[in-house]
Amino acid sequence: MLVTQQPQLRNFWYPVCRAGELESGPLRFVLLGSPLVLWADGWGGVFALADRCCHRTARLSQGQVVEGALQCPYHGWQFDGEGRCVRVPQICGQIPESYRVPAYAAQVAYGYVWVALEEPLTGIPTIAEASDPAFRLMHQLCEPWRCSGLRLMENSFDMAHLAFVHCNSFGDAEQPIPPRLETEVYEYGLRVRAWVPVVNPPEQQQNLQMADPKTIQSNDMVWYMPFGRKLTLTYGNGIVRIICTFATPIDDATSQVIQFCLSNDTEAEVPEADITAWERAIAAEDRGILETTDYDTPLDLAQEQHMASDKPGILMRRQLAQLFSRSC
Ligand code: FES
Ligand code: FE
Repeated sequence: MLVTQQPQLRNFWYPVCRAGELESGPLRFVLLGSPLVLWADGWGGVFALADRCCHRTARLSQGQVVEGALQCPYHGWQFDGEGRCVRVPQICGQIPESYRVPAYAAQVAYGYVWVALEEPLTGIPTIAEASDPAFRLMHQLCEPWRCSGLRLMENSFDMAHLAFVHCNSFGDAEQPIPPRLETEVYEYGLRVRAWVPVVNPPEQQQNLQMADPKTIQSNDMVWYMPFGRKLTLTYGNGIVRIICTFATPIDDATSQVIQFCLSNDTEAEVPEADITAWERAIAAEDRGILETTDYDTPLDLAQEQHMASDKPGILMRRQLAQLFSRSC
């Protein structure tokens, strides 16, 4: 699936960068093939504009924020968050209305800047635990991977890869038959539940405060169309780890992978650095295989797949195909 050929994908919110990154100045980000400049006015507002000045097309992302406006590096024209030109140093008097650049919806959630290129069909996913004081939030990934968002989403719901891709971490190589899945389809998503036998190696025994060499994970997975996932892992001792992963489409072949984790234990019990090191190591295992996969196979490939563990991926492809059959 070529994401840049599907205009409906522009009608969703995507996380693009850490909100704190904008404190040092404007940032360029390509979303669905569209170059953007992201910037903060210093007074709490975050904005996304086309990264092309309407004067002589310089990159606004190489400019700077001056008194809450974005200043072009070429001739100093300044723009507000709606893309209106509010200052032209070379002229006095009225600035023509036509002096403007396209602006896009932007806001901050969970510590990240989110952008929608067109009117969003759904809101930013609600992760209730992020505002629950019983949980702490840990930032784990914000980096480009050379893989498509759909491949990453399929992988996130695919229990058949655990015994192979994760055989050096939590996957049980002795259990290649994946667990039974319970699936539920939503209008813009999917929920999948499974009880997964996993290996519990020494570093994870510390992280989970469980001495057993093997354990059972309760997996409750929600897919947020098109490229978001919330994975809630619950263990027998009451520890809950929620791993939220988003594959924001940069272009057809590349995704900005953003991941944060919520956990109901404390820093004194398990250091954040240890949890993050474990989750990043697992993500690196997935990345190693995902970056070998393609990005341009048509959506209907799923019809050729028959394993029960492929069902979530098939349902995702079916829902995306329905979305793409609608007019924008
Ligand atoms: Fe931006 Fe001239 S190109 S002010
Ligand atoms: Fe994996």
